[in-house]
Amino acid sequence: MQYHFDEIIDRRGTDCLKYDFGMKRKGRNDLLPMWVADMDFRLPDKILNELHKRVDHGIFGYTDPLDDYFEALNHWYSMRYGFTVDPEWVTLGACLVYAIHVSIQAFTKPGDSVMVMQPVYYPFSEAIRQNGRELVNCQLHYEDGRYSIDFEDMERKLKAKNVKALIFCSPHNPVGRVWTEEEVRKVADLCLENDVILMVDEIHSDFIFPGHSFFSCMRLDEKYRKNLAFYSSPGKTFNIAGLQSATIVIPDETLRAKYRQANREAGYSQANVMGQAALIACYNLGADWVDELVEYIYGNVQYVKGFIAENLPKAKVVDPDGTYLLWVDFSGYGISQEELEHRILDKAKLWLDAGAIFGPETALFERFNLATPRSVVEEAMGRLKLAFEDLND
Ligand SMILES: Cc1ncc(COP(=O)(O)O)c(C=O)c1O
Repeated sequence: MQYHFDEIIDRRGTDCLKYDFGMKRKGRNDLLPMWVADMDFRLPDKILNELHKRVDHGIFGYTDPLDDYFEALNHWYSMRYGFTVDPEWVTLGACLVYAIHVSIQAFTKPGDSVMVMQPVYYPFSEAIRQNGRELVNCQLHYEDGRYSIDFEDMERKLKAKNVKALIFCSPHNPVGRVWTEEEVRKVADLCLENDVILMVDEIHSDFIFPGHSFFSCMRLDEKYRKNLAFYSSPGKTFNIAGLQSATIVIPDETLRAKYRQANREAGYSQANVMGQAALIACYNLGADWVDELVEYIYGNVQYVKGFIAENLPKAKVVDPDGTYLLWVDFSGYGISQEELEHRILDKAKLWLDAGAIFGPETALFERFNLATPRSVVEEAMGRLKLAFEDLND
């Protein structure tokens, strides 16, 4: 490998949410953090050099995207996912969660129903509830350690609940599914047939493991575009969430006008100048780094799968098709949610994302963030083993 993902970089003391907020959020500082989706790897010098150049200029006033921004976007989109966008379709957002909130305000009315597929990235559910909309859950089907979409349930609820918008997480956080082309097409068909706006969050689309391929909703035919809103960001791929550089693509003029009106009402004007510079540098220069990064993370996943199978035989890893998040089912231990949390926090001293936050049916799951050097993953696994050892016989 050309890049050094094994390198441990101390992130403490950088106002880093993942490492510096143990006391504030958990009341303690002794936890190994593997929670929030934030990676512990340093960007390559060629990208940092571009950022240094921008910093050295020394002036950071208002900005707006110009040709170099759209060229970088289309370079990445065409090379990685096989489509391009018309710059007209694009609106910048602070972050993707902001854009989801604004979209709900733009596309639906208070009291309207919006669908998600739980267990799912919990800010989707919060965005629906905080905006006074009704959450309709199409629970993912979990069988033999794998998740799938219950299309019958989806169709029934879209109709019965008069759903106005569906938030589709593709690939899916936390279960790690990379939806197949057939699955994506079925979701899109159901949305089109039922006049539902398809809001597609593809923020994890660069983390695809061997044997799986990603099919972007932006590759759907023209007819689907009338009700499609696409959300992307280099925030996960390059770990620049702190630079707030989301891209919202809405091909349909009427739908886009609704989004932009709500965006204006929310008071958003210009993008973050460093975020814009970072997106351009990352998308133009970062492909080889991302290829190695995904290979490294896949290695972490393989390591954890093997370790858990051997040392925590009652836990089940949901084998991910992609993403750097690992969803692990601890229900085989027959313990309560409180006991599970106690073992994770007080015995293993790990800070994970508890399954309950992703939906009510997954309280005995935990989400592990594996975007960290292998030695950290090994340390975490060693602690986990000790915390469950007495329950293994
Ligand atoms: C599916 C998904 N969407 C959005 C985000 C957050 O994006 P942003 O930081 O741009 O709001 C995350 C972060 O984990 C995520 O997993």
